[in-house]
Amino acid sequence: VPDAVVFSGGASGAWKVVRQVAVTGAPLPPVARIEKGGKAVTDAAWVLMGVTSNLRYTTAAEKRILDATPSVLGRPSATRGALIPITKSARWWGLPQDERRAILEEQSRHIAIGSAYLSKVSRQLVHCRDQAGARFDFLTWFEFAPADEPRFDELLAELRASPEWRFVEHEVEIRLDRGT
Ligand code: HEM
Repeated sequence: VPDAVVFSGGASGAWKVVRQVAVTGAPLPPVARIEKGGKAVTDAAWVLMGVTSNLRYTTAAEKRILDATPSVLGRPSATRGALIPITKSARWWGLPQDERRAILEEQSRHIAIGSAYLSKVSRQLVHCRDQAGARFDFLTWFEFAPADEPRFDELLAELRASPEWRFVEHEVEIRLDRGT
């Protein structure tokens, strides 16, 4: 059963915004804090929502590797986070499934690269492409310890340099801290 995941940006929320940048395409209105939950915060400046879903591209062998180190959200030590909403191009969505898989993994090694970070970076992929009026295809969410932030930066740089990212036409990066 998919879980609804709602990100409310505004004056309140458990996560303090440390940095908010438009990597590609339009920015989101800047906010001071973000709340992540199952429902929108009433006084939010903006709300992004989606659902967790099934895997689309991952093979059985890759899934075994991912399942060996499950992503745990809400670890007390993981006080840093990132919300990265992403939209891919019409060209990407026009490709058949096997060609999208080939770009994501055989050409870009998204899962292989990501798998090296499983023990340091917890993640959640939220889908919103099929939602009427949604501005993003995905809301990607990450949690990690402050000491592992340089590793997370490295992961982002690796993925953004890959062929898959040529299909990313909108990307906003919001770095978060729930320590204070
Ligand atoms: C922490 C390490 C990471 C791992 C292990 C990982 C793993 C995966 C896997 C297995 C999928 C495919 C799911 C499927 O089969 O449908 C996926 C999809 C995706 N990941 Fe990652 N990932 C990581 C980091 C990242 C980062 C840092 C970003 C964003 C900056 C990102 C953005 C995405 C997006 C947007 C998708 C959906 C792609 C699509 O369906 O077109 N991932 N990831």
